[in-house]
Amino acid sequence: MEQKKITISIEEYSHLEELNTTDQELVAIALEAAKNAYAPYSEFNVGAAILLDNGEIVKGSNQENAAYPSGMCAERVALYWAGANYPNVAIKSLAIVAMNDGQLVDKVAAPCGACRQVIVESQYRSGNSFSIILAGKNKTLKVANGIDLLPLAFGPWDLK
Ligand code: THU
Repeated sequence: MEQKKITISIEEYSHLEELNTTDQELVAIALEAAKNAYAPYSEFNVGAAILLDNGEIVKGSNQENAAYPSGMCAERVALYWAGANYPNVAIKSLAIVAMNDGQLVDKVAAPCGACRQVIVESQYRSGNSFSIILAGKNKTLKVANGIDLLPLAFGPWDLK
């Protein structure tokens, strides 16, 4: 038996202004996207913005349904839209924000487990890892690789 440890790497920023300009712009677009959330049940508006390798930006927001499980998270709306419309274009980065009462929520917009699984597979499909920015009112986190959000993810990859 060998005892192994997994180290994940996360950058933490106290203010959005500390992010580089490209990341700040992507967060601003994710905030715009959150305005299109359809979240009458949770009143929790999530926005996601994806920067593609061809410079295009894809937006997504959570879309709820009276049959609750039929709803879809913002990041998956954006990732699936990118996959459906730009199947051969690599993803460079993804920004996620969550709003309540028109305000960024205090805690960072941490993606749910299902979204993390989809992020990891999107990296596999994209052929590269991409950065994920999780913006919050009091701090913003950034990881360079989706596997940092879901170590040992299920998939056709070698587990390290
Ligand atoms: N939600 C997202 O859009 N992304 C996540 O990663 C977590 C949760 C949405 C789903 C639902 O519409 C609302 O937030 C409350 O859970």
